[in-house]
Amino acid sequence: MTSSKPTPSVVDTGNEFEGVPHLLSLDSLEVSEGGHSAYRSSYEEKTRHLLSTEPVETAMSLAIGGEYDGIGRLESALLRSLGLTDGSFLIDVGCGSGRLAVQLNDLQCKYLGIDIVPELLRYAQSTSRRPDWRFIEADGFKIPEKDEAADFVCFFSVITHLTHADSFRYLREAARVLRIGGKIVISFLEFKIPAHWDVFEQMVGEGVDHHVLNQFISRDALSAWAHHLNLQVVGMFDGDTPHIPISEDIRLDNGTIMKGLGFLGQSVCILTKPSKTEMNVFRGSPVANAGQREVSIQIVVRDAMRGRDAHIYVAAKEPAMDTLYNATPTGFIAAGLGSLEPFLSVTLTEHTFSLPIDIPGLEPGCALEVYAGYGTSPDDMVQNGDYAHLYTFVQGEA
Ligand SMILES: C[S@@+](CC[C@H](N)C(=O)[O-])C[C@H]1O[C@@H](n2cnc3c(N)ncnc32)[C@H](O)[C@@H]1O
Repeated sequence: MTSSKPTPSVVDTGNEFEGVPHLLSLDSLEVSEGGHSAYRSSYEEKTRHLLSTEPVETAMSLAIGGEYDGIGRLESALLRSLGLTDGSFLIDVGCGSGRLAVQLNDLQCKYLGIDIVPELLRYAQSTSRRPDWRFIEADGFKIPEKDEAADFVCFFSVITHLTHADSFRYLREAARVLRIGGKIVISFLEFKIPAHWDVFEQMVGEGVDHHVLNQFISRDALSAWAHHLNLQVVGMFDGDTPHIPISEDIRLDNGTIMKGLGFLGQSVCILTKPSKTEMNVFRGSPVANAGQREVSIQIVVRDAMRGRDAHIYVAAKEPAMDTLYNATPTGFIAAGLGSLEPFLSVTLTEHTFSLPIDIPGLEPGCALEVYAGYGTSPDDMVQNGDYAHLYTFVQGEA
């Protein structure tokens, strides 16, 4: 299949650029009926064919859609604008021939690139000139890293070539290996963007016999996947609208020049992994007067948590004495965070529920900071930092 030349849909943002959108070329992904192994062999065949007909550098660029320098710089600028820096750990799924890796070479970051084509991986390893970085062959849709290890996981122009089920498998892995507060960056094709529609029309025009998979996905689907994986959507950006801060002009091989802000051509979805407390014990608020020596905390349960069993822990910290109190249904007992007892073990069937807390024995005027946390055990809660400050409470007169 040949490159698409969609009509640009240019939004005037005060940034100068000209030419057509990019990262929109249709890859020749021959897919017979089998799914993963068929994608895999088609990518391998395509790369080997290019290597036999083109100089290595050209083949390695064309194998991943071309625009090796420009798109790599845009991908790098996007990740840096989201916080990728020295000390970060990035997992680049579908890293190809190192278009992104080469542009990150100056960073003292940890990097893992995963792809299905050994020739692309070897080229990426050598051109990135980072012997400390790992480039490994994909094993199904697994990401071989431990839980909560990565600051970023990116999928640039990758789920555009996978079935939705396979993309979800990868995203589930990305959610697992991502640390709390980390980001997943996905580029995708969608019907609402005129230039993407042109790509689709081109696919339709080529008839039904070409066995090529170029996958579109709706924002609804991405949001639903995020919801089911306890991820939050940070933002979605139109593929044809400049949104990536760039410090130097970027000129693409196709003539596009970008200044100030750039765009990939494909739309971009950014997800983050919230702490379990942010996600599950969403909000607490005092609903009784603090002066009554009794207070209720109202906890709002997110939809994703409804129907699950949870242990709720409530602790109070008296700032002056730096003592932590474990709230029990009958009062507070002094405790370290590691020895908390669950205040309540419940099945989270309601959207909101209240915890009445009686606080005998504390001097009037004593200030308490109240925390609530969710966890399968106190250790789990503490280790994950899985508790949140709800409010500061000043004990009034009885
Ligand atoms: C269009 S290229 C994009 C390469 C790279 N992300 C970039 O933007 O420069 C798509 C890449 O995804 C890889 N790929 C396809 N299926 C994959 C899978 N199941 N796991 C990992 N990589 C895959 C291909 O081999 C190819 O290198």
